[in-house]
Amino acid sequence: VSGNLKATAIAHPNIALVKYWGKRDEELVLPHQSSLSITLAPLQVTTTVQFGAKGEEVELNGRPAQGRERERVLETIRRVRGLAKLPGGVRVASTGNFPPSAGLASSAAAFAALSVAARAAAGLAFDVRASSILARLGSGSAARSIQGGTCLWRRGRRRDGTDSFAEQVFDAEHWPDLRLLAVVLEAGEKETGSREGMKRSVETSPFYSAWAADAEAEVPRAIERIRDRDLAALGQIAERNAWRMHAVAMSSDPALCYFAPATLGLVSALAKARNTGLAAWFTLDAGPNPFILTDLRHQGDAGRLAREHGAREVTTCKPGGDARLSEEHLF
Ligand code: DP6
Repeated sequence: VSGNLKATAIAHPNIALVKYWGKRDEELVLPHQSSLSITLAPLQVTTTVQFGAKGEEVELNGRPAQGRERERVLETIRRVRGLAKLPGGVRVASTGNFPPSAGLASSAAAFAALSVAARAAAGLAFDVRASSILARLGSGSAARSIQGGTCLWRRGRRRDGTDSFAEQVFDAEHWPDLRLLAVVLEAGEKETGSREGMKRSVETSPFYSAWAADAEAEVPRAIERIRDRDLAALGQIAERNAWRMHAVAMSSDPALCYFAPATLGLVSALAKARNTGLAAWFTLDAGPNPFILTDLRHQGDAGRLAREHGAREVTTCKPGGDARLSEEHLF
């Protein structure tokens, strides 16, 4: 933390095994259910924030940010500026080591890195809870990227959201053999983003309240499976939670189908391969590109299966560490 109001932070994205899909408060980004995720190394976003600059400059992956994207970054900045009572402008630059629109949860890593960097640049002490809440206000899933390993975002009960933040349940070293393969079947932006999609599900799916209650009940079960490093039992929970989230998406009006034909192809092949001993399960966010949950011993076979079924790219991830400050500023 420097006197020159500048700081840089690095954060990993995360993949939810029990998912967040629906807000009870749009403004404060408060979820209807708790969610559970694993932080993903080596994928990461690096963000530098400097207060006291001239104007408001926001650069994402080498380009000036536009429209809604720029506005969301500046909202986070204004919250920190308000807390630290800082006048003047700001400069923000952010870059990821993975394509932002490949469905690899880049907004989670981006808002986590932004929150940690902005608080440090403003001279505020590092604080997991405050950083998680600040990240949540930018993008819900970002609340789970402040710490590494397994993170639990408790939905909370309070209207003001002060009890809705994520905390680490197990660190990155708890399960070193766990592997999560990011499978790119289709590049390019998804049609209906998570924000709009989950809103539609809350408002129109007749199954919404059943989904929210079920996800809440799955969280403690998933935590036990991770505690026991029981891949098969965790894989089953992750798959059924993904199917249920997508059932809610598909039952929205108009329907939301995030599966591409290739997604279904791979997911069916995975189920078949399990019958012949492949320890691998899938999960899927609001896009066509699944993650495969497997372990060190099966990662090669799982990756090959993904390529045989249309994967253009497979990135092998393992549990990553906490969001952290870095001395290597982007400007
Ligand atoms: C399907 O966190 O991107 O990936 O809070 O509106 O920014 P906003 O949504 P976002 O939604 C993530 C939804 C999900 C499931 C999950 O990560 O839990």
